[in-house]
Amino acid sequence: MTVKTDNYLMCINGEWVGDELGTLNVTNPANGEIVGTVPNGGEKEADLAVAAAHDAFASWSELTAHDRAGYLQKLNQLMLEHQEELAQIMTIEMGKPIKESRGEVNYAASFIEWFAEEGKRIYGETIPTHKDGKRLQVWKKPVGVVAAITPWNFPAAMLTRKMGPALAAGCTVVMKPSGESPLTAVKLMELCEKAGFPKGVVNLVTGSSSKIAGAIMANDKVRKITFTGSTEVGKVLIRQSADQVKNLSLELGGHAPLVVLDDADVDLAVKGAVASKFRNAGQTCICANRIYVQEGVYDAFNDKLAKAVEALKVGDGTDETVDVGPLINQDGLDKVSRHMQDAVSKGANVVTGGEPVTDGKGVFYQPTVVKDVDESMVVMQEETFGPVAPVQKITSDEEAAKLANDTPYGLAAYVFTENVARGTKLIEKLDFGIVGWNDGAPSAPQVPFGGMKESGIGREGGHEGIDAFIESQYVSIGME
Ligand code: SIN
Repeated sequence: MTVKTDNYLMCINGEWVGDELGTLNVTNPANGEIVGTVPNGGEKEADLAVAAAHDAFASWSELTAHDRAGYLQKLNQLMLEHQEELAQIMTIEMGKPIKESRGEVNYAASFIEWFAEEGKRIYGETIPTHKDGKRLQVWKKPVGVVAAITPWNFPAAMLTRKMGPALAAGCTVVMKPSGESPLTAVKLMELCEKAGFPKGVVNLVTGSSSKIAGAIMANDKVRKITFTGSTEVGKVLIRQSADQVKNLSLELGGHAPLVVLDDADVDLAVKGAVASKFRNAGQTCICANRIYVQEGVYDAFNDKLAKAVEALKVGDGTDETVDVGPLINQDGLDKVSRHMQDAVSKGANVVTGGEPVTDGKGVFYQPTVVKDVDESMVVMQEETFGPVAPVQKITSDEEAAKLANDTPYGLAAYVFTENVARGTKLIEKLDFGIVGWNDGAPSAPQVPFGGMKESGIGREGGHEGIDAFIESQYVSIGME
């Protein structure tokens, strides 16, 4: 399938608008070609979208949960029917290998499906009274207009993990996708229209992130911000939300440790490390960013990991056989190079890879394994967001826990051990919201996703994922 380059529009109150605004180019990082444009919207468009969502809120929230689920089920079905189109767009706008893009469309649709059903299970409570003639109840209300601000690395799934529960709960939504990968969001918006959502229930604005976010944060009709992105931006949103005490859910940066103890199944650990580290060219918040391997299996692990990594094919994600695509842009590539140069200058040894790919116009980095790293190196201190697996030798479970927790982040961690007692005791010590035990791919729609410490506030997915969009209203009923 070839996807035609197009000038896409944004959608406010059921109208496709933005033709008169300037445009922003969307560039394929695999070859530098422009694959589409979106309107360069700003404060005005953000305010119009919020007004539309606000107007639509009363009637949408008054529908039954079963009726709202009907719209979401239709959207799920349309996403699956349009899987290939969505996947192709995703790959050309941000570089993800096509097989991963297809997987992401399924993953994204699974949030819509899950929350369509979960919306039917928003239960209130009746609480035993302390006085005759009183009844005590807790009712549940949708929080109101929601702004969903999403990153470029999962252009479909990060939107649906937010809009699915928001819509199911009775909220209306303004979506603001990343400027690096907004085209998938436009296609999703088209599918929302096809699914028949009433005007204003879902809106999409594209353009300047700072202007749109600024307007959203200043607008008191927006009651909830749900954001996935960097910890740095998350902290700005926390500050900006203070004046209106806006409700916030934040899924922020990670710096995931992957621990391999000496009783691990080394082949399984290598498989898990490759799945976690090289998915999306290492550009996921939960990807293993630092690997700690106990001395007894250190050499075997490095040898096997290097072999597995050398088998990965790098290239343009539209090629069906490619496993690792480009970085998102030159800044992303420069960061990876900086981390590697720092590590090597401080004594780390490259096992495989270790260089940018310089032929062609894309921004690629060789899938890399680098060993003999230590905590003085930037690669073990900051999120690299690239296809680099740094491996540090450790001696004990205590050292693993100490090094793993020695970070302000707490999103995901991975532990490989065949010993249940060791695994349990180690994981009990880890301050991370998600742990993969002998598993490099823990994500699923029915489980909570989110971080501790500076990795965020709240959880998406699972039954907790809908709590973020509802508020309790305690009603004390006098009956005398
Ligand atoms: C992310 O880490 O950026 C999202 C990945 C996921 O949902 O698995």
